[in-house]
Parts: sequence; structure tokens; C-alpha cells
Amino acid sequence: MENKAKEKGTAQLTINGKTIDLPILGGTVGPDVIDIRTLYKNAGVFTFDPGFTSTASCESQITYIDGGEGTLLYRGYPIDQLADNASFVEVAYLLLNGELPTAQQLEDFDWTIRRHTMLHDQIDQFFRGFRRDAHPMAIMVGTVGALAAFYHDSTDVNDPEARMISAHRMIAKMPTIAARAYKYSVGQPFISPRNDLDYASNFLRMCFAVPAEDYEPSPTLARAMDKIFTLHADHEQNASTSTVRLAGSSGANPFACIAAGIASLWGPAHGGANEAALNMLREIGSVDQIPEYVKRAKDKDDPFRLMGFGHRVYKNYDPRAKVMRETCHAVLDELGVKNDPLLAVAMELEKIALEDDYFVEKKLYPNIDFYSGITLKAMGFPTEMFTVLFALARTTGWIAQWSEMIEDPSQKIGRPRQVFTGDTARDYVPITKR
Ligand code: SDX
Repeated sequence: MENKAKEKGTAQLTINGKTIDLPILGGTVGPDVIDIRTLYKNAGVFTFDPGFTSTASCESQITYIDGGEGTLLYRGYPIDQLADNASFVEVAYLLLNGELPTAQQLEDFDWTIRRHTMLHDQIDQFFRGFRRDAHPMAIMVGTVGALAAFYHDSTDVNDPEARMISAHRMIAKMPTIAARAYKYSVGQPFISPRNDLDYASNFLRMCFAVPAEDYEPSPTLARAMDKIFTLHADHEQNASTSTVRLAGSSGANPFACIAAGIASLWGPAHGGANEAALNMLREIGSVDQIPEYVKRAKDKDDPFRLMGFGHRVYKNYDPRAKVMRETCHAVLDELGVKNDPLLAVAMELEKIALEDDYFVEKKLYPNIDFYSGITLKAMGFPTEMFTVLFALARTTGWIAQWSEMIEDPSQKIGRPRQVFTGDTARDYVPITKR
């Protein structure tokens, strides 16, 4: 990747009686940044930004979010246009390569992905080492991390060809791994991928077919699954993507980096929110219980949060949530579960939260996780699988961001500093004198 941020002026910082100039850099859209790479050398101080709420960690050309407007662009294309018009494989090509594919490029890429969906036969033995009741995210973290033990011929991060093969392998094999994690948890035999099926249909069949009876998803469900993958594919420098970049900055192999991203995504404040949101709706149980839970969410002394609400960046409606809401209704209509009690609670909770002063003032809107859980439950996935599906889709974004980081001429190993408030040097005290 060629660095494209341009100098737009200079910021001056006066500290400890010394004034230093810091370049101001600007991108194609979004806030300018103050380049502080020389700050410690020239002023002997660090910046302090826990949670990185005001810190740009890298230059990127992949995804852009306008949190105030509630817009999300993948390589410049609005998420709703991609979700409505493109397939997930087409979006994966766009995220990896920067441009929408021609018909021939898409055919070739799709052919390649379909022929990387199988797993090394030994990996099926690997799965059998887990307990049947293991959380599928634990299985996914372990299995993806172990891929380097099976595909060590594409782990040379400095070889563009190896990076491309790893990217294809990760995108193609995550559905097979995710489906196996599900099948293993329900005690059913693994179903092999088929090259004649599209990405989403292949995944749904690997999840829901059994040797005794095949499974062919309806076009509506396959399209819904495909859209859900597109909505979850990438999202700037979120916690899990930043984890992948930091792991990759040391030169770690791509499988290890993606496993690190999966581990970070698992948290309920991040990708685990779809599982947590559905569990919350179940806990609320009925519409008349909602006021009590909204009261708890506002109480600073109560750790309860409305899962599926709020976002570090979006201070407007998450544009993915809008598409997710439409997809949710399409799936529920298709499956004839229009009267899902959890959906009734979700719709009423959304209505109340969008009118409540606390949520309005704090700009806490429903995010993508609010509706994805209800949709995936209706499609037959157990709650524990929701974050696995998020990780399946986000693997494409992680791989695209990891590749961009490797190709960034300015990238170096990530090594944040700290403000130390612990004990200064002191001598050891023998145990007899403590
Ligand atoms: C994802 O980063 C990404 O892009 C993530 C993601 C992606 O695609 O990668 O979009 C996926 O992780 C979506 C978010 C899923 N998480 C949840 O739904 C969990 C519930 N949400 C909260 O945990 C929270 O909103 C976060 C973690 C998402 C954001 O946390 P922040 O950055 O601390 O939120 P904030 O600074 O905007 O909070 C403002 C205020 C705070 O109160 P004050 O300290 O100002 O008094 O709102 C409060 C927060 O305490 N608040 C909530 C709340 N979320 C924030 N209060 C009640 N319920 C909530 N859900």
C-alpha cells in the first residue's frame, strides 16, 4: 500500500517551556490527524489515550465510518448498496483488492474460494480433542490457531503469493471450520463442503444437512446469510481488527493473527454482543419487564448494559442495523415466525430506547448485534454460534487489513508505552523482615 495521507499544516505544542511543531495530516475524508511520531524524541513526553478514543493507529484505504452520519463505506461503496446488490464473495474480492471485480475476475475468485473450502483430514481429528459442550468460539480460536500446523507452506508473510494463498484459505475454510464447530457441539457427523454451491448455501448445508437427509436452503435464507456475512465483513480499526494488526506487526503468521482476532471478537462488548443481546432479550422475557431493565441500564452503579445498543464510533443509527432489521423481518416472514416473542420485546425495547432521554442524549442507537441474534436464532443457530458467524464474516476484513498492514511501507512492530504510577526502585526485603 502506498501512503497517501497529505500534510495540511502544522500543530504547535508547548510543554515544559518548549514549543514543538507537529505535522497535521489529512486523508480523503474524515478528521485530520496530528502526526506525533517525533513527539517523544523532541519533547520527551508520550500521549495518553486509553481505549484509543482519539488515536489513529494506521493509515488505511479499506473501510470508512462516519459515526455522526451513520454511514459505512467498503472501499468507498455504501454498505446498504453492497448488501442489496453484491454477493459476499464479490465484497470479499472488493475488500481484498480495492475494486469491484469484473465478471471474469469474480468467476475466477469464486472458483478459487470454492476449491479451498476443504480442511486437511487430520484437522477433523483435532476437533475430536474438544469436549462436546465446548463453546464453539473456543473451538474456533483453537482450530484457526492450529492451521499454521497444517498449512505451513503459506505462512511466509513477506511472500505476496503466500499471503494471497493464506487469504484464500482463510476466507474459504472459515465456513467449514464454523460448521464443524456447530456439528461437533450437537453430536452430528461433519458434512463436507461442495464445490457446486455458493458460499452461503454451502455453509448452511454444512450446518444443517445430515447423512440421513440433505438440506437445501431456500433462496431467501441463503441470501439472508450472504447479506449477514457482508454486513459483518469489516469495520475500520475495531478491537479485533486492531488485535490482528498488532499481532501481525511482529511478523506472526496469518493464521495466528486471525486466531488473535477471534479471541478479541469473543468479548461481549464486541462481537459477543449478538449472543449477549439475545440472552438479554430472553432475560427481559416480556414487554412489561422492559422499563425495569432500561432503568438498570441507566444506573451508573449497575453494570447492566443494553446489549446491542451503543457504539464507540456510531453516534447515529448503525447503517448495518437498518439492513439487519430488514433481513430479520424477511427471514421471520419466510419461516413463518412473525410472532417471535423475542422480536416483540426487541421492537418495543428499540422504540422505548430511541425515545428515552438517556439514550438520546448519549446517542445510544441499536447496533448490528441487536437484530442479528434474533435472525440467527430464527435460522436455527444456537446462541453460542452467533459470534462464530460474526468471526466467519469478519475474517475477510481481518485478512484485508492484515495484508494492508504488511504492505504499508511505514508499518513497524506495534509497541505502545504507558504512564507508570507504580513503585519506583526499592531494595528486596528478606522474608524474615516483612
Ligand atoms: C461491535 O468497534 C466496532 O466497530 C465494533 C463493531 C464491529 O463491527 O467491529 O461494530 C461490533 O462490537 C458493536 C458493539 C457491540 N457491543 C454491544 O452492543 C455491547 C453494549 N454496548 C456497550 O458495551 C458500549 O456501547 C460499547 C462498548 C459498544 C461502546 O462503549 P463506549 O465507547 O464506552 O461507549 P460510549 O463512550 O459511547 O458511552 C457513552 C455513555 C457512557 O456513559 P457515561 O460514562 O458517558 O455516563 O453511554 C453509556 C456509557 O456508560 N453506554 C451505555 C451503553 N453503551 C454505552 N449505557 C447503557 N447501555 C449501553 N449499551
